[in-house]
Amino acid sequence: MTDYSLMNAQLKALIEGVPHLIADLANASALIYDSMDRLNWAGFYLIEDGRLVLGPFQGKPACIEIPLGSGVCGTAAGEDRTLVVENVHEFPGHIPCDCASNSEIVVPLRKEGTVFGVLDIDSPEFCRFTEEDRIGLEEFAAILEKEIAGLIRV
Ligand code: SME
Repeated sequence: MTDYSLMNAQLKALIEGVPHLIADLANASALIYDSMDRLNWAGFYLIEDGRLVLGPFQGKPACIEIPLGSGVCGTAAGEDRTLVVENVHEFPGHIPCDCASNSEIVVPLRKEGTVFGVLDIDSPEFCRFTEEDRIGLEEFAAILEKEIAGLIRV
């Protein structure tokens, strides 16, 4: 089980006062990958010109562009809500990047109420992500949003 109070405190320590978007997102993805077990991918997609573009991540190389409304990431961004997918193979339009992925959680990132990207985490285990993970990762996203808001244009 992930210790979200520790992980989220570590996130603050890593990114507070660091005005570099790529550095902050790179360290955030490394922290998740190092702190949570049973993962095969953790990282970010950021909206550019109306579609999601691959950002800093840990795991295997992934697809570069995802249209809003497509796949788990594009659906979470388009609908502005966290998606917890117990079995990605049953999600209509799921975009497979690593065939080892079986479950996924995607949390939208917002500035002033506007979605500018998503945090995407994949697991090789079915039903890997619980309600506790959703709450902990939404808090993680909120810390990140607050720190990087000044570095994002929406
Ligand atoms: N599975 C995602 C695509 C991104 S990868 O998992 C890294 C989706 O369906 O949006």
